[in-house]
Amino acid sequence: IAQVTTIPVVVHVLYSNAAENVSDAQIDSQIRALNENFRKRNADVASVPAPFAPYAADAMIEFVLANRDPGGNPTSGITRTAINGSYPYDGRDDQATITLDSLIKEAGSGMSAWPASSYLNLWVCPIQGGLLGYAQFPGGNASTDGVVINVTAFGVGGSAVSPYDLGRTAVHEVGHWLNLLHIWGDDRGGCLHSDNVADTPNQANANTGAPRYPNVSCNNGPDGDMFMNFMDYTDDAVMTMFTRDQVARMTATLLGPRASLAL
Ligand code: ARG
Ligand code: ZN
Ligand code: CA
Repeated sequence: IAQVTTIPVVVHVLYSNAAENVSDAQIDSQIRALNENFRKRNADVASVPAPFAPYAADAMIEFVLANRDPGGNPTSGITRTAINGSYPYDGRDDQATITLDSLIKEAGSGMSAWPASSYLNLWVCPIQGGLLGYAQFPGGNASTDGVVINVTAFGVGGSAVSPYDLGRTAVHEVGHWLNLLHIWGDDRGGCLHSDNVADTPNQANANTGAPRYPNVSCNNGPDGDMFMNFMDYTDDAVMTMFTRDQVARMTATLLGPRASLAL
């Protein structure tokens, strides 16, 4: 029987000015967005084109701010740390951010992770240069495990900046954290690489903005790229679904390398 898995989240807010010290309401909006999208309760899933609609799936995963800290004491599930200024983006890609990690995830310049076996660590912080966020895949170093979201792309409305103001950067990054690859397989223009997910069409490259349906590549017509998938790079208002096979991959992660997290 399918059963909902609940994941405790700690949000580490790192701020260099008052605006970056996001409100509890902004944090709640992000948790709500994660829950809506992972439970397929986002109203805009109705806009998925008919040929793709049967693949849209409820991941059966929910998120809740932690109510116990690593010492077992009551907590809001939020830490707040003042920092010196925004972090420099080191120009590496999406998941590879050695410089950023060493600043964001360490005491002194940032905030160290709570035990990755018990919490999803979510750092919110100012990052220069347009990186919306990044994630660590399962199996990595516990001290850097979790997701990082640029403050400008965190939460719904409020301090989040359009077109990344529906909380879907975190949905995308938590997808990586649960072992999902980009839907285009990180081909950079070719059609050779897969996301190792059977029910997503092969796709040449990342889509950005709001493409017109259908958007064909890699002989994937007539329906084309599934650019409305959370694991593409389209605008928040465009990405609306995970597929069944993506959900199967995330479920396998929660039964395997991340089993200790399930509440
Ligand atoms: N790591 C990706 C980036 O920084 C995240 C893309 C998220 N996309 C979105 N529409 N929120 O570009
Ligand atoms: Zn990504
Ligand atoms: Ca595929």
